[in-house]
Amino acid sequence: MRIVRSIKNIREAVSRVRSRGFKVALVPTMGYLHDGHLSLVRIARRRADYVVVSIFINPTQFGPREDLVRYPRNMRQDRALLTKAGVDILFYPSVRALYPEGYRTYVEVTGLSRVLCGSSRPGHFRGVATIVLKLFNIIKPDLAVFGRKDFQQSVIIRRMVRDLDVAVRIITGPTVREKSGLAMSSRNDYLTAVLRRDAAIIYQALLRVRTRFRKGETADPKSLTGMIKKMIGNRGGRVDYVSVVDPDRLASVKKAKRGDLIAVAAVFGKTRLIDNIIL
Ligand code: PAJ
Repeated sequence: MRIVRSIKNIREAVSRVRSRGFKVALVPTMGYLHDGHLSLVRIARRRADYVVVSIFINPTQFGPREDLVRYPRNMRQDRALLTKAGVDILFYPSVRALYPEGYRTYVEVTGLSRVLCGSSRPGHFRGVATIVLKLFNIIKPDLAVFGRKDFQQSVIIRRMVRDLDVAVRIITGPTVREKSGLAMSSRNDYLTAVLRRDAAIIYQALLRVRTRFRKGETADPKSLTGMIKKMIGNRGGRVDYVSVVDPDRLASVKKAKRGDLIAVAAVFGKTRLIDNIIL
């Protein structure tokens, strides 16, 4: 696996393989890789001839009180995992390379960026949309793969690509979970063993509520989300939001129907975790 740090070199390397007719896939990440990330690499390998993974802890998507400085990193392990996964190029730019002195331009996907995670993390999706568009412009992949764990992120990126006529196909992969059901996340490592066990209630609650919905017990969003709040609360978690939304527009629904999304964010200890399920 080749490791490339400069924009000039990655542009040259990718344009060379594209000119030979190879299809290029990009998997953007912030590193500290786990099986969720690697599942996206596998999807990319199936769908393309040449796989680029980026590792970049993007400062513009972190709020001033968020974990930018202590965000976990392990470059050595990431490199080994990506090599083993058959990745062709790791793009690992510096902050200076992507945000040079005088940087002023941001992308905002209005509306979609304000709801759910956007309301407790103002500016977060502006940072995400900006860096993802920059990566698309630098690498010019034919396709890019994102995880459904960050459902809102994938909806926002699809919207941005459509609105700004970016020639890239967006593919999403299913959420990879720990044995307990907890969605894998680089941030799970912040949790103590006890909190990690408790946090598994998030997915258990989503499953339980989906079952009740499917049995026809209730389609009232208040009642569905109320059950989730209670279950998470009883396990010591603090629910940031839980909402039943339309999966394209992310707008709250008055009555839940099959195909709607339940999205949840909850804090265990000091760690904010997200998850979602399709009804
Ligand atoms: P990061 O949190 O490192 O995630 C990189 C990609 O892995 C995202 O598409 C995310 O949805 C996916 N992912 C994370 N956990 C997953 C899991 N358990 N199962 C399946 N996929 C999972 O998301 C980001 O980085 C950043 O916002 C980024 C898009 C790189 C922009 O900076």
